[in-house]
Amino acid sequence: MNHPLRILAISGSLRQSSSNTTLMNAIIGLAPHSMTFTTYTSLNDLPHFNPDLDTDNGPLSVQHLRTQLDGADGVLICSPEYGNGVPGALKNALDWIVSSGEFVNKPTAVITASPSPMGGNYANASLLLTLEMINAQVSQQMSLTIPHIALKLSKDGTITDLTLKQHLKSILHALQQACY
Ligand SMILES: Cc1cc2nc3c(=O)[nH]c(=O)nc-3n(C[C@H](O)[C@H](O)[C@H](O)COP(=O)(O)O)c2cc1C
Repeated sequence: MNHPLRILAISGSLRQSSSNTTLMNAIIGLAPHSMTFTTYTSLNDLPHFNPDLDTDNGPLSVQHLRTQLDGADGVLICSPEYGNGVPGALKNALDWIVSSGEFVNKPTAVITASPSPMGGNYANASLLLTLEMINAQVSQQMSLTIPHIALKLSKDGTITDLTLKQHLKSILHALQQACY
């Protein structure tokens, strides 16, 4: 590949001061120059998935998501867990991609962070199941659950836990390798 890798970064949280969005930006800060990132900021603009609207000329916000994914070599997802599952807004976005196929063979890193001791493990597993169903390229090396996120990431986005920092760098490395 003779261009810098283009990674689309998606936070599953709509919250203004989301720890997952902060984490996502911190991860972007750890990445090598050979990886460039676009953050997807329109999760809240997508209509609820409706197969009746799932056409080539569907809603503009859906076309925009598909175009962004189509132009990406890989994807980084950072998401919370709600009610032992994937946040509805993020699942909704993935549902819009089932038929259009932009995730096919797309290397995708899946990170869930939570203040709980479980690190959003149900949401992480569920995201992997959905991404596998739409033939994204996922792997253990590119997925991580992060418990007790508030103890490891400061509000200004500094990763204070050095083991976590190292782990995130290895996920970036795995994502980079998977994109080539
Ligand atoms: C309605 C609701 C349900 C939640 N359910 C879970 C859950 O099932 N598992 C979990 O680890 N955290 C759960 N949480 C806590 C979230 O992990 C926490 O609010 C987190 O900060 C959200 O991520 P964000 O900071 O990126 O927005 C829940 C929070 C809310 C408000």
